Amino acid sequence: MGILESAFSALPLTRRAARGVSDWIDLQWSYTTEDLKRVAPRARGRLLDVGCGSKPYAEIFRPFVAEYIGVEHEASFSLTNAGDSSSPDVLYDGRTLPFPDGSIDTVLSIQVLEHTPEPQALLTEMARVLARDGLMILSVPFCFRLHEEPHDYFRYTPHGIRTMCDAAGLEVTEMHAQGSLGSVVGHKLNAYLAFRVARIQGVAQSLGKLSHESNAGKANGVRLWTLPFVVPAMGMISLAARAADRFMPDPTETLSFLALLRKR
Ligand SMILES: C[S@@+](CC[C@H](N)C(=O)[O-])C[C@H]1O[C@@H](n2cnc3c(N)ncnc32)[C@H](O)[C@@H]1O
Repeated sequence: MGILESAFSALPLTRRAARGVSDWIDLQWSYTTEDLKRVAPRARGRLLDVGCGSKPYAEIFRPFVAEYIGVEHEASFSLTNAGDSSSPDVLYDGRTLPFPDGSIDTVLSIQVLEHTPEPQALLTEMARVLARDGLMILSVPFCFRLHEEPHDYFRYTPHGIRTMCDAAGLEVTEMHAQGSLGSVVGHKLNAYLAFRVARIQGVAQSLGKLSHESNAGKANGVRLWTLPFVVPAMGMISLAARAADRFMPDPTETLSFLALLRKR
């Protein structure tokens, strides 16, 4: 265990503060959670989080649903760093979701469709278990670094999402871009600083982030001496990226898309 990881486990307040700062700097996380908080009141009944990882959005949805079930593809989940405390409720073979037709009121799937070589089959499975009057909340990346290799297969445009949803018997009722040019550039710069310069993958994982990735990054070790430069630089980049998204919006660039869907 490194010096920062030891400090976080000895001083929970330090850990909470560091997690808060890193969540704010992390534009992908910030935009995703902001959007999910906005749509969560529309969730209800039995919610199935498909590809739930460490269930990072459970607390956002729990107040609105009767049941929160996390399901994971056993083979790919076993390669990740998600801890025991946040284990999925159900593991399956990645092909047939072990739930009857129309038995789920809300299907949630965040940043999962890029990780299966057969995304159309998974989308069709999610549509099968969705109730006739149910809601599906889907987020997929448009511009994001390679991650969870080798199980990283696709990126998505709104037109691709609509075409795939149509084939699965789903109708897109809303589509939201999560970020714009500023956040695409800012997120890439920050990822470079975090992972290549400061090498803080292990620190991020000890804060409960990047749990869906393997723990291979820990092997490199954090470069402590870079942190006094890198952390403020990442904060400034994140601030500038948010301002650029707001004042110089570019509808052709984004980190991800969030789609709300219902059965046709
Ligand atoms: C990038 S992680 C996202 C985890 C979580 N949804 C989040 O946003 O933190 C992608 C997850 O999809 C899972 N996955 C890959 N193929 C899947 C499949 N066919 N069915 C369900 N989950 C799958 C992986 O095991 C991994 O945990």
